[in-house]
Amino acid sequence: MADKEKKTFYITTPIYYPSDKLHIGHSYTTVAADALARYKRLTGYDVMFLTGTDEHGQKIARRAEEAGVTPKEYVDEIVAGIRSLWAEMDISFDDFIRTTEPRHEQAVQKIFQRLYDQGDIYKGEYEGWYCAPCEAFWLERQLKDGCCPDCGRPVERTKEESYFFRLSKYADRLIEYINTHPEFIQPPSRKNEMLNNFLLPGLEDLAVSRTSFDWGVQVPFDAKHVVYVWLDALSNYITALGYGSENEEKMRFWPADVQLVGKEIVRFHTIIWPIMLMALGLPLPKQVFGHGWLILDGGKMSKSKGNVVDPVALCRKYGVDAVRYFLLREIPFGSDGVYSEDALINRINTDLANDLGNLLSRTVAMMERYFEGVVPAVPGIFEECDTALREQCTGLAERVEAHMTALNLPEALGEIFALVGACNKYIDINAPWVLARKEENRGRLATVMVHLAECLRVIGILLTPFMPRVAPRIFEQLGLPAGELTGYETAAEFGAIKPGTRVQKGEALFPRIVAEEKKEAPAPKKEAKKAEKPAKAEQPKEEAAPAEITYDEFMKMELRTAKVLSCEPLKGSDKLLLFKLDDGERERTIVSGIRKWYGDGAALVGQTVIIVANLKPAKIRGVVSEGMILSAANEDESVLSVSSLLSCEGLEPGARVR
Ligand code: MSP
Repeated sequence: MADKEKKTFYITTPIYYPSDKLHIGHSYTTVAADALARYKRLTGYDVMFLTGTDEHGQKIARRAEEAGVTPKEYVDEIVAGIRSLWAEMDISFDDFIRTTEPRHEQAVQKIFQRLYDQGDIYKGEYEGWYCAPCEAFWLERQLKDGCCPDCGRPVERTKEESYFFRLSKYADRLIEYINTHPEFIQPPSRKNEMLNNFLLPGLEDLAVSRTSFDWGVQVPFDAKHVVYVWLDALSNYITALGYGSENEEKMRFWPADVQLVGKEIVRFHTIIWPIMLMALGLPLPKQVFGHGWLILDGGKMSKSKGNVVDPVALCRKYGVDAVRYFLLREIPFGSDGVYSEDALINRINTDLANDLGNLLSRTVAMMERYFEGVVPAVPGIFEECDTALREQCTGLAERVEAHMTALNLPEALGEIFALVGACNKYIDINAPWVLARKEENRGRLATVMVHLAECLRVIGILLTPFMPRVAPRIFEQLGLPAGELTGYETAAEFGAIKPGTRVQKGEALFPRIVAEEKKEAPAPKKEAKKAEKPAKAEQPKEEAAPAEITYDEFMKMELRTAKVLSCEPLKGSDKLLLFKLDDGERERTIVSGIRKWYGDGAALVGQTVIIVANLKPAKIRGVVSEGMILSAANEDESVLSVSSLLSCEGLEPGARVR
């Protein structure tokens, strides 16, 4: 489709102050906007995604002075860092606007001139309170304990000649607009806040020029004045489209569909900005969405509090897709959300490594094991569980669409991961390793495997906007060439993967993060445990019978048979053996402290043992051990045995022990 025939979608982030390096809180807005932009492109829109930097104002001028450089030199360096951060985080903006660019400055001058010419800007004298860090003017009654009501920092008494913008003239029109366009300010709580706190008490005209510093856009007809930074900054959303220039072709994107902003700047975007647009005779954005903050250590992340998290370091440590996933899944869009590295690791290990990563590796491994890696034809006889999974899969795109339209990104991801969960359950119900034992089950096994591959294909397609690097890796393992069967238009299809497609095992999508490095694998030693406890008389006896557990509690532990593929002493340790085992689905590594009884371990190769398959992995001597081999020992440790717990004859690797 030619771009002109496509529906347009214009999304913006706030333009960031390049006063410091950006932190993970800033990345949050940008990653959310990026996921929405990518989603709209995927679903066929002609997208314009704008971000940029807000480079003028007193705060930046002061920073530059402190650093002993010119303001331009100061911002150039920080802006270069911001651009490379966005490259690192896969931010697919279509334009990056800097308010120091001539295209912007010239357009701002035109806007100012026009508002002056039509009488919406007039000259007067400003007397009031100014918060330099927020670049905001306040009236005496708006101060909180004499300080800025937004950031709590001291304000400066300011008295100077200034140009004023007639907000008061447009107040009634704006109130009327907000009341008749409930979708304009979202979420609705922000709308009420704007009406009750700012609009209904009465709007005063706004001082829109400054004479006390000169780092800004010069007022075209009065060189003493620079344009108030918010008037300058807000204009970016149209100056980037060429407003006021020779070429206004991109104005076809206006009005913006979604303007994402943090909750503290909703005020500027839903009062000053719409009034500027009304005065210019332009339509208002369809929606301004005020999202919450990423909170850390009980407060908003900020450089001055010293509690910032560097997104570059985080992406390098955990991978950009994992960081993006965490931000978009964990924080309810619109509310504040707490950031913690533990929560991030938890999301990686559970949702990404365990649920999604394992689903892919299990599916591909089983396809290789049972069908030589070639997608089989299915007989066309379905059971209830197949139909249910298929319906959940083919309806997924529609459910994701509904959540994305409502800007509910966590729910959209929740739907996709619900299908991941359903697939894992489907594997457990159908136990392909049991089906594989009998030739007569071949058709059923093929049906199960193809259902899993199809679901993974659709999951890959719909994950693309959120985790752009993961989807191609899923497609590669499924043997799907880029573009074919991986486009959004095939997301509601089932059975698109052709029989004969060759899957190929790849690296784990998300390696598990092991929190702490353990020194040695614990051998079953009761004495060691005793020694840790203070020898108090009232201490419960070690021999006391363990508390009873219910059947359900027992079933939480996944005991499985596994075949020892190889076993050798772990380098650098005289106690540990390094095992490779076939657990019925994949190869697993386990480190076990049983060398004392089994020497070099050669006798165990080929044996079937029982493992705890869902034990949290731990790093032992640099090796990630994924489970534990069950063994029994005499009290004096004279004998320890792993292999004679029960007769495993005839059992396939992977059989569940219960
Ligand atoms: N320059 C103005 C915006 C002008 S738009 C015409 C500005 N810049 S900012 O750099 O201070 O903030 C930009 C955005 O980052 C805001 O939307 C703000 O809410 C967001 N965030 C800053 N810290 C944040 C968190 N800790 N959490 C979430 N968002 C955060 O304001």
